[in-house]
This record gives sequence, structure tokens and C-alpha cells, in this order.
Amino acid sequence: MPVNSVNSNISFWNKTAKIYTVLQENKNRILYDKLCNRISKYFNKNTKVLELACGTGQLTSRLCGKAMLWEATDFSAKMVSVTKKRFRKSNVNCRVEDATNLTYDNSVFDVVIIANALHIMPDPDKALREIYRVLKPNGFLIAPTFVYDGYVNKFKISMLERAGFKTFHKWKAAEYENFVEQRNFHIIESYIIRENFLPECVLVCKKSK
Ligand SMILES: C[S@@+](CC[C@H](N)C(=O)[O-])C[C@H]1O[C@@H](n2cnc3c(N)ncnc32)[C@H](O)[C@@H]1O
Repeated sequence: MPVNSVNSNISFWNKTAKIYTVLQENKNRILYDKLCNRISKYFNKNTKVLELACGTGQLTSRLCGKAMLWEATDFSAKMVSVTKKRFRKSNVNCRVEDATNLTYDNSVFDVVIIANALHIMPDPDKALREIYRVLKPNGFLIAPTFVYDGYVNKFKISMLERAGFKTFHKWKAAEYENFVEQRNFHIIESYIIRENFLPECVLVCKKSK
């Protein structure tokens, strides 16, 4: 099924792809470093990883070397094209995939990682259903997402919104945890990293039976 371009905001992400690496690597380097250091224990040389909504590879660059196979995917063909040019490693496979309608078979991945994306999807419910389907039994979902707890820089958010950025879910951390837990995932770690103008809630979950 083709992505609904109006609802999904895909045109914004396609337009942003060219500048995304420069913007994110400069502004959020410390956040990505901290995040990837803390979650790196979930990857090893036997791990098959599916990364959804990879952008231009901010997590891919830091973590792909730790896994056996790293599928770096995004629904924006432009994002995937930049990622492909950045990573020519033999264990990294870049492809266009809509997180809400994946083309992978059931139960193939040890880890699915989706960073900073569930809140900007109109229907994250569908993505969680797909993630559940493609994870092996006892597989891990790692899902860091920006949340609206404590101080929120409204000015920065309104500037982004003027540029076309859309947030469909302004969860607080507890609401986000609840949302994921109600969809057959058992939370094993949840913590906040404060390095952006929004706090990031890092959830690590196991697929429940
Ligand atoms: C804020 S960026 C995050 C990129 C990267 N994960 C990071 O942390 O920097 C959000 C990404 O989600 C992607 N995205 C949004 N909806 C998607 C969907 N339904 N399926 C796959 N990717 C999607 C966008 O194209 C964009 O690259």
C-alpha cells in the first residue's frame, strides 16, 4: 500500500533529507552519543537488527558495527539514498520501508530500533503491530522518542512547525510507556535523556508472548 503523502508528512522528510545530517550531527551529537552508549549492550555479532525511520543514519553510524546484520530503513526514499551513500559496509542494507506496512517476514529480527519517530507518525499503533510481527520471540524493541515532560521550548517547536514539521503525539513519558505496554511489549528499561530542547524517553522492551 502506498504511503498517504498528506497524512504522513513524507514530503517534509524528503525535502529535509539533504540537510538532515548536518543539522542533526551538529545539534544532537551529545544526545546520540549518550543514547547509543547506553543501548549498545543490546547488540552483538549474532544480532539481526531492523532500524525503522533511520533518517540519514544517526544511529546506524554509531551502532551498525556491533551487529551481524543491520537493515537501515525509512519511508523517505531521499533519506535512504543519503544513508546508502554514507554507509557502504557489508553488514548494512539500506532500503525504503514504511514502518506501518513492512515487507519483511514474521519473526526475523532480534532487535527492532525506531528512534525519534513514533510521535511523528499519525498511526504509531500500526508500526507497533508490524514491529511485533517481525520480531523474534523474546526480541527487543528499542524506541527512544521525544516527550513533553517538564520544560518544553515552545518557541523552537513553533519554528519547526512553521517549517512543516508535524508532531502527531505529544506524549508525556508515562503516557508513552502506557501506549507501548498496551501493545504487547514488556518494558525492561525506561529513562530520560535531556540533551535536546525536548526530553527523550528511551524505552527498551521485550516482545510479550
Ligand atoms: C525525526 S527523524 C528521525 C531520524 C533518526 N532516527 C534520528 O533519530 O535522527 C524521523 C524520521 O522518520 C521517518 N518516518 C516518518 N514516518 C515514517 C514511516 N511511517 N515509516 C518509516 N519512516 C518514517 C522520516 O522520514 C524521518 O526520517
